[in-house]
Amino acid sequence: MKKWSWLFVLPFIFICISYSHSHLASIKAATQQETASESPFDKMMQVLTHKRCVNCHPAGDRPHQGEDSHVHRFEVQRGDDNHGVPALRCHTCHQDDNNDYAGVPGAPEWSLAPVSMAWEGLTRVEIARSMLDPTKNGGRSLEDIVHHLTEHALVLWAWEPGVDAAGNPREKPPVSKEEYIEAVLAWADAGAHIPAE
Ligand code: HEC
Ligand code: HEC
Repeated sequence: MKKWSWLFVLPFIFICISYSHSHLASIKAATQQETASESPFDKMMQVLTHKRCVNCHPAGDRPHQGEDSHVHRFEVQRGDDNHGVPALRCHTCHQDDNNDYAGVPGAPEWSLAPVSMAWEGLTRVEIARSMLDPTKNGGRSLEDIVHHLTEHALVLWAWEPGVDAAGNPREKPPVSKEEYIEAVLAWADAGAHIPAE
């Protein structure tokens, strides 16, 4: 290439670089705006649809485990009272706290969510409707549900999920506990509206 031809090429390169910079900046701005415009319902449902909740709110009679939500090992079954069959009760293995040596998660009242509270396979709107339906949610009022969502040990365990048998930390829900609690309260205060989709 002749020396003088750089005079034409260089400005072109500059234009390309500055274009890609401004393009990146606008993508970044759009992403930030998206996060800021997430409604309290969106944030709350990002938690409720997470595997830390759904593994214990399955559609069938067996809990699920792990990041891939495989069916619980050792043939663990729901049993008549959701605490397992007589020979294999949940609390035989699950204590009030995580056992990080054995990789067994734990929290008070560890048991399977009743059949009427199955969330597996439901859309977020269906989960929210089921949660507010007293014929399915254990006869709870909105106030009871807010209390359960923001204070119950089985729910809050999701932010301290411990490690699995291989010693790998379990994934936490994508929204922080504080932000989630704030979102639940804001959603309920504004009338617990469930969007149509
Ligand atoms: C024989 C012991 C044993 C019994 C009984 C047992 N579990 Fe487990 N459970 C485990 C172990 C071990 C793990 C951890 C597996 C891992 O993450 O590697 C586990 C994991 C789980 C998880 C996965 C948490 C997550 O999000 O990854 C749920 C949910 C669960 N058990 C529910 C139950 C329920 C409900 C019962 C009773 C119906 C029960 N388990 C009975 C040993 C048991
Ligand atoms: C170890 C199992 C377990 C885990 C993990 C779990 N739940 Fe539950 N959940 C239950 C059980 C059992 C009940 C029924 C308790 C009752 O009726 O007293 C229940 C009931 C509920 C209810 C009230 C009933 C309804 O349908 O509205 C809500 C809300 C709820 N869970 C939310 C959550 C959320 C949110 C998470 C995750 C952040 C979660 N749960 C994780 C076992 C679990």
